[in-house]
Amino acid sequence: MKRLDGKTALITGAARGIGRAFAEAYVREGARVAIADIDIARARQTASEIGDSAIAVEMDVTDQASIDAAVAATVEQLGRLDILINNAAIFTAAPITEITREDYARTFDINVAGTLFTLQAVAKHMIDAGIKGRIINMASQAGRRGEPLVAVYCATKAAIISLTQSAGLNLIQHGINVNAISPGVVDGEHWDGVDAFFAKYENKAPGQKKREVGEAVPYGRMGRAEDLTGMAVFLASDDADYVVAQCYNVDGGQWMS
Ligand SMILES: NC(=O)c1ccc[n+]([C@@H]2O[C@H](COP(=O)([O-])OP(=O)(O)OC[C@H]3O[C@@H](n4cnc5c(N)ncnc54)[C@H](O)[C@@H]3O)[C@@H](O)[C@H]2O)c1
Repeated sequence: MKRLDGKTALITGAARGIGRAFAEAYVREGARVAIADIDIARARQTASEIGDSAIAVEMDVTDQASIDAAVAATVEQLGRLDILINNAAIFTAAPITEITREDYARTFDINVAGTLFTLQAVAKHMIDAGIKGRIINMASQAGRRGEPLVAVYCATKAAIISLTQSAGLNLIQHGINVNAISPGVVDGEHWDGVDAFFAKYENKAPGQKKREVGEAVPYGRMGRAEDLTGMAVFLASDDADYVVAQCYNVDGGQWMS
């Protein structure tokens, strides 16, 4: 008996990176998964590499019609929807004096509104269908404290921690557990982009920031997407039934709270 046998999951931003690792881990635990991403070509490729237990769904988390269509497509193709991971997000960085309204609005739209309204659409489905579901939001150590060049992204992740608490408290009456995972620094394409921001604003050589943050992790290296999958499986499993409105650090010891 696997821990997610018979369950289905919608994972946003799962075409690559951490979301993809979650999808692979869920399938290993017996679930069927919808790889939902704005990059539908890559989502299809990822789903085909994972195999028969994965489907690709086109989804832009900033567009309500797209959210509703993705939830409907998942329910239609997988038969039900037990688990949502709100994983899609973008990173941005700039000194306070250079932040633009456009970048602020886009980052909040994807990271915060995207999470809230995907959570809302899935929660409505779960309530209507009588499903005691699980919702997992992706926060970040960036949401635990500000950083000089990362005001907007940090603020979006602080908002995720707060939304997780409010939604967790509101939805547990329906048997829906909402929790969050807070990673530290996780190597991959996302961090290639982060590294490029720091190369620009801190005059670092490409790859230098990555090396520095990896060396600063108490565990001794950057995280890998696979380091997060155990927590994602746990939070979706029956073992987490009494876990409500929490945000768990999985970051090699970087933040303690
Ligand atoms: N990598 C890290 O160091 C790190 C650290 C802390 C938190 N996180 C969080 O973990 C999550 C996953 O991070 P990752 O490193 O895998 O990121 P990533 O950039 O590799 O993947 C993000 C995915 O989201 C998709 N996406 C972007 N905009 C979208 C939209 N509007 N609608 C639907 N999909 C969209 C992208 O196409 C991509 O496939 C994010 O929430 C991120 O903020 C990452």
